[in-house]
Amino acid sequence: GTKLGIGLLGLGTVGAGVAGILQAPEGRHPLVAELELVRVAVRDLQRPRPIELRPSLVTNNPQAVVDDPSVQVVVEVMGGIEPARTLIMRAIAAGKAVVTANKAVIARHGEEIASAAAAAGVYVLIEAAVGGGIPIIEPLKQSLGGNRIERVSGIINGTTNYILSRMAQEGVAYDDVLKTAQDLGYAEADPAADVEGFDAADKIAILTGLAFGGPVDRDSIPTQGINNLQSRDVDYATQLGYRVKLLAIAERLNSDAQTSQSLPLAVRVQPTMIPLDHPLAGVNGVNNAILVEGDPIGRVMFYGPGAGSGPTASAVVADILNIAGIRQLGEINGSLDPLLAASSWRSCHL
Ligand code: NAP
Ligand code: HSE
Repeated sequence: GTKLGIGLLGLGTVGAGVAGILQAPEGRHPLVAELELVRVAVRDLQRPRPIELRPSLVTNNPQAVVDDPSVQVVVEVMGGIEPARTLIMRAIAAGKAVVTANKAVIARHGEEIASAAAAAGVYVLIEAAVGGGIPIIEPLKQSLGGNRIERVSGIINGTTNYILSRMAQEGVAYDDVLKTAQDLGYAEADPAADVEGFDAADKIAILTGLAFGGPVDRDSIPTQGINNLQSRDVDYATQLGYRVKLLAIAERLNSDAQTSQSLPLAVRVQPTMIPLDHPLAGVNGVNNAILVEGDPIGRVMFYGPGAGSGPTASAVVADILNIAGIRQLGEINGSLDPLLAASSWRSCHL
């Protein structure tokens, strides 16, 4: 068939990683070769880029990417709330599929975006928004769907885990490691979002919606970051046989099945002392880990690189392939059943 036209909003850490995968399809899923990068938006046209693109592909007008008739999937990796939100809504209104890594916009406007997508019968996929390269969104939406989830908890910010790990293992000063995490492309544009815990709060809000159903009031999540943590706090924890980790937790307060309709949930983000023999204590560097506890499965742990260009691009491309696969199915069946498109939302409250 014809190639699937991809429009990228953003060519920074994540966008360049995505473009890199699309430019080198060899050895990957066969559908990667069916994806074609047709338009890319950046802010600064003069900035040197780590990958080479035909200059005619690149614009500093993101709306032109969304409106381009050859763009069928809009990949939003620019970050921030606006204009990202408006561009996503515009893509949906035009009947285009959307893939985004932007947890800040999904945590605040996920409901609005999901309803618009369901009404338009288009997909909005967000695998890269939580846990970097770790598959966690699709497992929660699908593979674990038979479970009554009791608790989702873990380390879901790579920057702070990188900082805490190096402080504990090497005694490096907080400010120096934060700078390195920024240089490695792990941190948000404003790293306060990482160190003050807001990024983890965005992500746990998204996971809570998926795991327990229903919208979550993002602003009501009690959030404490690691910005007030001293080196000596980390040292004392080590001496006592603990690791300090920034944990995000969402759990049912009352695990009586009869009350599950009203969903009393406790959701929070806080630095926590973890005993060394706990599975989360050994999660170091930029890695993330998410524990999902439910009935009847028990406990599952998802582990891997939680930020960075390659791992995050891996998750973005997975979403694009999902859409390419559905299109292929539609071609086989004659046309794409709109119910099929809408069904992605039935199990998915953002
Ligand atoms: P980044 O390196 O700062 O890249 C942002 C890109 O978007 C840049 O290319 C920038 O253009 C472009 N851009 C921003 N505003 C724009 C505007 N108004 N018009 C046109 N282009 C615009 O950020 P990133 O680290 O790739 O992150 C992108 C998104 O992915 C964010 O939502 C972030 O939270 C999320 N995310 C990041 C990671 C990670 O490890 N970095 C992991 C998971 C999710 P210029 O290059 O010209 O400045
Ligand atoms: N700044 C984020 C982090 C990027 O460090 O986890 C991945 O979402």
